[in-house]
Formats: sequence, C-alpha cells, structure tokens
Amino acid sequence: MDNNKHELVVIVGSVREGRFGPVVASWVAEQARTHGGFDVEVVDLAEIDIPLALPEASPMAAGEAYPRPAGMAALTSALEGADAFVVVTPEYNHSYPASLKAAIDWHFTQWTAKPVAFVSYGGAAGGRHAVLHLENVLTELHAVTIRDGLAFPNYFTAWQDGQPLDPEVSGYAKTLLDQLAWWAGALRSAREAAPYPA
Ligand SMILES: Cc1cc2nc3c(=O)[nH]c(=O)nc-3n(C[C@H](O)[C@H](O)[C@H](O)COP(=O)(O)O)c2cc1C
Repeated sequence: MDNNKHELVVIVGSVREGRFGPVVASWVAEQARTHGGFDVEVVDLAEIDIPLALPEASPMAAGEAYPRPAGMAALTSALEGADAFVVVTPEYNHSYPASLKAAIDWHFTQWTAKPVAFVSYGGAAGGRHAVLHLENVLTELHAVTIRDGLAFPNYFTAWQDGQPLDPEVSGYAKTLLDQLAWWAGALRSAREAAPYPA
C-alpha cells in the first residue's frame, strides 16, 4: 500500500449468470490504476455470501458487533478500508440489482463520509435510473455521491474486446477519477480530524 494513494474499491454490482458487469469493472479498475491516485481493489458481489435475511439489529447501531456471515468478511473489510468507491451497476427494471441493495443494507458506517462514483450501463438510458436510486440510498448512509458519472447506453453496441468504442470515454473517466480523488483526500482528512457527527 502506498500511503499517498487513496484506497479505491470498485464494486461489481450484478451477479447474474452471463453478466456484463465484470467487463466494465475491469476497464474502470484499469483506468483508476493508470490515473495513479489510487490503490485499486475490485470486489465482485458474485463471490460474496449476501443473504437476503438480515439480523434483527440494525447495522447502524450495532457497529463492529453486527453478526455477518463468514463469507461476507472480504466485502466488509474492503468497504471498511476504502477511501472511495466506484459502483459499477446495470439497470434492472429502472433500478439497480437486488444484489447491490443487499450488500448495501448489510453495512452502514463503512460508507459514512466517503465518496462514491457511479459507472452504469444498460439500454437506452445507460443505467440512469439505477444511479438516481443509488444516489438516494447512499445519501442515507452519509456517503457523498459524485456528480460526474459514466453511463454506457446500449452497451452491447458500445463495447468491443473489453473496451468502450468511444475514444472520448477515457477522458471522461479521468475527470471522474480526479473528482473522486479530490473528495477521497478531503473526506479522509476530515474523518481523521474529527469523528463524523452521524
Ligand atoms: C431483470 C432485468 C431487468 C432489466 N431492466 C432493464 C431496464 O429497466 N433498463 C435497461 O436499460 N436495461 C434493463 N435490462 C437490461 C440490462 O441492462 C442488461 O441485461 C445488462 O446486461 C445487465 O447487466 P449485467 O449483464 O451485468 O447483469 C434488464 C435486465 C434484466 C436481467
């Protein structure tokens, strides 16, 4: 770990058989490594045990005592250690996948006072509805969502060999990552200076 770099967790939100999500996440992770401001970890929700049935208590109140399954430890530890997130999400029925909602609901403080950027894909809307819902939900956890995002409408014609066809996209990704790095540094300093008054 390089202490001058921000810990970035890229979350693959879809777990569907034959999903496209890992292609987008791999590309985003590569953009973030090239950017230079981040240590990058990709967390694939398909590899995590995420039951739909939650414990009785709320993760907000329980803190570290929250009883999570052993197969969720890698996700919890990645969220805990992150300075910033990129959530890679498709659009399912004008929202984001249930896998992502379940992963979010098992955690709370791990998101607090940390920045989140979105990279979405889908049909004509490019995942816009999914991102709008995620912004709403993550604000409840005191996360800070980044204005700029990347959206890939009709991704099935917009990608080839693991890369977007539009040559401008890398530039948009750099802008997003510049903003994310700025927020990651600002919020990490703020968290270190004083506990967030949640
Ligand atoms: C249950 C389901 C609902 C979907 N609903 C939408 C939708 O509302 N809008 C859209 O643009 N695409 C929709 N799609 C198409 C997905 O965007 C497309 O299948 C995409 O590949 C899903 O991401 P994934 O491959 O990572 O699972 C839907 C797909 C599924 C499986």
